[in-house]
Amino acid sequence: MKQSPTVLLTGGAGFIGSHIAAELALAGHEPVILDNLCNSKIGVLDRLSSIIGRSLRFIQGDIRDVELVKHTLATHHVQSVIHLAGLKAVGDSVKEPLAYYDNNVVGTLRLLEAMHACNVRSIVFSSSATVYGNPDRLPLRESHPLSTTNPYGQTKLVIEEMLRDLHRSDSRWHICMLRYFNPIGAHASGMIGEDPNGVPTNLMPFVQRVAAGELKELPVWGNDYDTPDGTGVRDYIHVVDLATGHMRAMEKLESMGCEAINLGTGLGSSVLDVVRTFERVNGVRIPLAIKARRPGDVPACYADPSIAFERLGWKTQRTLDDMCRDAWTWQQFSATLGG
Ligand SMILES: NC(=O)c1ccc[n+]([C@@H]2O[C@H](COP(=O)([O-])OP(=O)(O)OC[C@H]3O[C@@H](n4cnc5c(N)ncnc54)[C@H](O)[C@@H]3O)[C@@H](O)[C@H]2O)c1
Repeated sequence: MKQSPTVLLTGGAGFIGSHIAAELALAGHEPVILDNLCNSKIGVLDRLSSIIGRSLRFIQGDIRDVELVKHTLATHHVQSVIHLAGLKAVGDSVKEPLAYYDNNVVGTLRLLEAMHACNVRSIVFSSSATVYGNPDRLPLRESHPLSTTNPYGQTKLVIEEMLRDLHRSDSRWHICMLRYFNPIGAHASGMIGEDPNGVPTNLMPFVQRVAAGELKELPVWGNDYDTPDGTGVRDYIHVVDLATGHMRAMEKLESMGCEAINLGTGLGSSVLDVVRTFERVNGVRIPLAIKARRPGDVPACYADPSIAFERLGWKTQRTLDDMCRDAWTWQQFSATLGG
């Protein structure tokens, strides 16, 4: 029986990957998810099925297992890969750098080997604005100098360099490296979203848990930065906008060489902007605890997203109000899920 061309989604059970899976499937693409579930739960698949109205193909496995990846690429007639699988906690990467190099760098290397062996040479890679290090000017453009401040960022930088070398060696590869700014929010259905283990380190999951009464107060790491209200400014992007950016990139891959593209809104919002918006939109209170600056945090970071518009015809549609509303809907739904 002839099958339609598919896209392999590594890390597709995770926060961003599950939203990409939903957008791809709703647009008529055929995603196949490969995930070892080291930072996600199997239950997300049933919830994805409810959103999409059909079940998705899922393989539980590791991207470092070359034989498994080759078998998956061949059996499912995969034409392109969206590669999100990886570890992403900056603090953990400082404590366990080898685990990060192994999972992220070696994992990507093994994935690329398997793709090459199967003649699949189109890949969208999850990079990050972390590759801009401590920015000395804003907004951040793709041409700005690259550097990193921690092992997690270093893994992204090494992978970007590996991908550029690969394309230089063989122009049959089509590679798009998407540099995400700060993805937050959740699917409008409230059925999938970010579900970190333990105490969250990112702003929005922390805000959600304080709003739900699971945590007492939100620590604000520094209110004396040179920003309009003194708190750190970031470029928050709705995860569904991020997902549609991946779909546009995948659809354009065949016309690309090896390109890096920012996915952000171009707007900076401070910690207090996010907190006040969350309180207003959802009618909740977020008690704050002002703390000292955290080492390594930059005052402000936001994208110039114009290349994404020029190359992909993509720009964000959703506002900070949408991000805060959808994150809260997800928080309330996820509280009903249990372990
Ligand atoms: N969330 C962010 O703020 C952010 C920002 C920039 C870049 N990124 C990158 O985007 C990607 C996805 O991030 P996310 O927030 O969805 O994280 P996530 O942890 O929710 O998702 C990653 C998924 O990859 C899986 N995974 C990890 N290692 C694997 C392996 N070796 N084999 C198979 N599966 C594996 C995990 O089980 C998880 O489901 C990551 O590469 C991350 O570095 C995330």
